[in-house]
Amino acid sequence: MGRYHPPSPSVANNNTNSPRIVVVCRAASSAQKKVIMQSTSEQDEEKKAAAAQAIEKFLKDGMTIGLGSGTTSRWFVRILGEHVAKGLRVIGVPSSKSTGQLAREVGVPLADLNDVGSLDLTIDGADEIDGEGRMIKGGGANLLWEKIVACASDRMVCIVDESKVVKFLGRFPLPVEVIPFGWRSTERHLRKLLEDSGLGSPKIEMRGSEKPLITDSGHYLLDCHLEKIPDPESLGEKLNQIPGIVEHGLFIGIATDAVVAHASGEPEVLSFRS
Ligand code: 5RP
Repeated sequence: MGRYHPPSPSVANNNTNSPRIVVVCRAASSAQKKVIMQSTSEQDEEKKAAAAQAIEKFLKDGMTIGLGSGTTSRWFVRILGEHVAKGLRVIGVPSSKSTGQLAREVGVPLADLNDVGSLDLTIDGADEIDGEGRMIKGGGANLLWEKIVACASDRMVCIVDESKVVKFLGRFPLPVEVIPFGWRSTERHLRKLLEDSGLGSPKIEMRGSEKPLITDSGHYLLDCHLEKIPDPESLGEKLNQIPGIVEHGLFIGIATDAVVAHASGEPEVLSFRS
């Protein structure tokens, strides 16, 4: 499946050559930045290395960029904030409320996706990525905005530590975002689809401990424990047919590149462009 490039929506502002850019934040103090730049574990170091390498290799002055969500992306945003403080000019579009808040704290200028139209680049993490760049995302509950932001971008670079690279997708539970109205009915259709697709009788869990987690768009998440997804393209397409499912965590044909950090040595850069 190729990446979806929707037609530009009509905008109230008739001057489409000069999109209205709303800058909503300013730089944080250096003391604030020092605290948040400390990494704590080896895996954190890898996440940070992948983020730094992606910036170095793919990000250019003047770009509009999608800002991913999750712990790896948070390193990316923090490092980006340091570059902005040194003079890099970028406009960011966050893929979650929490990323937006962090970006404001570290001084990355932000805009609304509707105002910038399309993005040059998105840098985001993943829960799993295979050798063809197919991913599972949504472990941080942000898959809907992440997919919209990534699909609005000319290039999407996935940043991961090596633990996320898999031969087959599915060990990480596949998140499916559903509308609260009638969600039990949606879940029944989902279960039937998974069974009919030869995936056995998988456990489907509502995200959230005591009460359902509510996503940034006000939806629920159903995590499907599938272990192995033999045909991610086909499953992704079928999931899109079920009423009540807003989006799912299979990101197919979206990543153009990946930066994989290893415990030792330089991060590896992979390209999935044909
Ligand atoms: C959030 C995501 C994240 O990118 C994914 O969960 C990876 O997160 P982390 O970098 O914390 O491992 O998809 O919805």
